Order: sequence, then structure tokens, then C-alpha cells
Amino acid sequence: MEIIIQPTPEAASAIAARMVGRLLGEKPDAVLGLATGSTPLLLYRELVQMKLDWSCVTTFNLDEYVGLASDHPASYHRFMWENLFRHVNIAEKNVHIPDGLVQDIPRFCRRYEMMIRVAGGIDIQLLGIGSDGHIGFNEPSSSLASRTRIKTLTEQTRAHNAAAFGGREQVPHHVITMGVGTIMDTRQVLLMAFGPDKARAVAEAVEGPITAMNPASILQLHPVAKIVLDEAAATHLRKADYYRWVYDNKPNWQKV
Ligand code: PGA
Repeated sequence: MEIIIQPTPEAASAIAARMVGRLLGEKPDAVLGLATGSTPLLLYRELVQMKLDWSCVTTFNLDEYVGLASDHPASYHRFMWENLFRHVNIAEKNVHIPDGLVQDIPRFCRRYEMMIRVAGGIDIQLLGIGSDGHIGFNEPSSSLASRTRIKTLTEQTRAHNAAAFGGREQVPHHVITMGVGTIMDTRQVLLMAFGPDKARAVAEAVEGPITAMNPASILQLHPVAKIVLDEAAATHLRKADYYRWVYDNKPNWQKV
């Protein structure tokens, strides 16, 4: 794992944007795994300002709420179009987000996995982390080998996401999410976490044992996982000084 600690979410997001920008420069038809929530907002804003060429890019989003139409204000479809897709030249046919209204969920999930494989696999997967260690909507106790499927949200996650729905009662219980195994198959992972609420989950994921009770901890087994944090999210890391030294003293050819 590479742990990158920056003073602010803005500085951390700028680094993440450079990583994505570099990938699109090297591979214009890259396949991106995208995340929603408050964490990637600054990154998406930065990517829009970079005026990259998205015409050959393919995207797969991590998750969507079951029961929400794509035009529901709290749907992740709406989130992605409003915050990224409508500001760049991506082809609509290349955008993939789980369908919250699909009737046959298991069949849809198998197809989603197949579409990722047919696209050649995901080059870089963006991730946030829940304060309980979830990645995508893989809540604690998720199988670390899971594939795209239906999951039930914890009350903690429903409370965290309540604002978008105008109250916790309105937050769906069920979601479709890429599995932990799906995420582990991606070529590179870029997990971002900001703020003190994430500090405990980040420390457990990075420095604790690998456990389904903190699904992000499986990233210790991912060959190329970058964890980009602001200072507040890094406060419980025991080796923070070491991570800072490593980043500040990288050889030029390794820098982003
Ligand atoms: P957040 O969510 O970015 O809204 O904090 C992160 C997550 O649940 O993965």
C-alpha cells in the first residue's frame, strides 16, 4: 500500500486527479471504476477543469440504491451526471451504473460482472471508505470474495447518507454494489478519505488485521493500492511519519 497524507482534501484531491489524468494520457480508452458520496466531489471538479479527453473512456460505478429511478435526486445516476459526466465528453453508451429498478437483480449483477470483463477489466478503481470500513456498499461482514450483488445497508450508513434523502426513513435499505472480489480484480485502487470521522476506519484498514469486519482492510492484498488522506483522516495511523517521509523522498520518476 502507498499511504499519501496531505494537509487538506483539496491537496489530496489534486494528487488523485493527476493520477487519473496520467492514466487517461497513457491510455485514452481506459476503464475507470467510479465512486459517489462527498469524498470524490473535489476530484471530479478537478478532473472537469483539466479538460481531459473522455471520448474513448469507459466507466463502471460501484453501486446504486435499489428502488430508485435514475432521475431520482438522490440516485447515484443523478449524482454522476451532475457532478462529472455532463461536464466532460464521455459517450453515454460507455457509462455503466447499476440499475436500481431492475427486476431480476441476480441476473443483472452477473451481467454487470460480465460487462466489466468484456471491457477488459477496470484500470483504476476510485473508492471512498465508510466510517465502518465499507468500500462500495460492502458493509462489515461482507464476503471478501464477493461479486456484484444486492446488499443491505447498516443503520450507520443509512444515517450517514440521510441528508440526500431528507431523512433516514427515506434511505433505501437495499443496494446493488460491486463486490469486494470485484474491487480486488481491478488493476489499481485509489482510496480517498477525508475528515476525522474516517480516521479509525482508515487506521484499521491500513494497519490492522485483514478482516471482513473492515472490508477495506482487504486492500492490503491488492498489488497497487494508493490511500490518499487529509491530515484529519490520518490521525490514528501509527506509522504516519514513515508514510510522509516515503512520499516526500520519492525518486522523481515515481512522482505524480
Ligand atoms: P462519503 O462516503 O464520501 O460520503 O463519506 C464514503 C463511502 O461511503 O464510501
